[in-house]
Amino acid sequence: MRTPIIAGNWKMYKLHDEAVKTAVELKSLVSNAGHCEVVIAPVFTALKTVADRLEGSNVKVAAQNCAAEANHSAQTGEVCADMIMDVGCEYVIVGHSERRQFHGETDDSVNRKVKACLEYGLKAIVCVGEDLSQRESGREKEVVGGQLAGGLAGLTLADMERIIIAYEPVWAIGTGKTATPEQAQEMHAYIRRALSGSHSAECAAGTRILYGGSVKPDNIRELMDREDIDGALVGGASLEAATFSKIVNYR
Ligand code: PGA
Repeated sequence: MRTPIIAGNWKMYKLHDEAVKTAVELKSLVSNAGHCEVVIAPVFTALKTVADRLEGSNVKVAAQNCAAEANHSAQTGEVCADMIMDVGCEYVIVGHSERRQFHGETDDSVNRKVKACLEYGLKAIVCVGEDLSQRESGREKEVVGGQLAGGLAGLTLADMERIIIAYEPVWAIGTGKTATPEQAQEMHAYIRRALSGSHSAECAAGTRILYGGSVKPDNIRELMDREDIDGALVGGASLEAATFSKIVNYR
């Protein structure tokens, strides 16, 4: 019922031509992946060319951020949702922990960005996740619950059809330390219960919840075997087409 999504977050890696080259390589390596949606998120400067070169393929394009404000505003350095839509993207990653940590994003800014994405027809991959001290003090569910409540505040059931949640424990990002499938499953089940409470049981059952944090070709399978894990948001291991295609083709 929930089509898995395997998404690659390229962060601030790759010059324009390298991004295009990797995207084109990936396109042929995953062309038979009918079991899941495949998404890549290059840097802004490569979005248009990458989306053009992937047109008609099964690889979709995401931006890594988006402004909360609308077009025609005095927002130096920002890129808004309709500009992202205009160059051929279908998704936006919103509230990644690196944006929360290094760029001052809050649950409120995440919420406004999500609403901007939805207004212009984009789908939002909303990231949540606790840091190490929060997990060590046993507050991980409280933290993630708060991020969900804040980030998704005011969204209708119809809005929720275009929301994907990515659970990314900060202590597992780029560290090689993956959450165990049990830890990930436990949090994903918690997120689904939270969505059931905030929206509806049907919404909870239909929402894709991705896991992120050191996903690699050799651990994707055991993660995907879990009931509430509906895909992955992959950083480091998405940068090479050959490696990322192994994650996409995990079955
Ligand atoms: P990682 O990054 O796969 O390199 O841990 C995941 C992410 O930041 O989305």
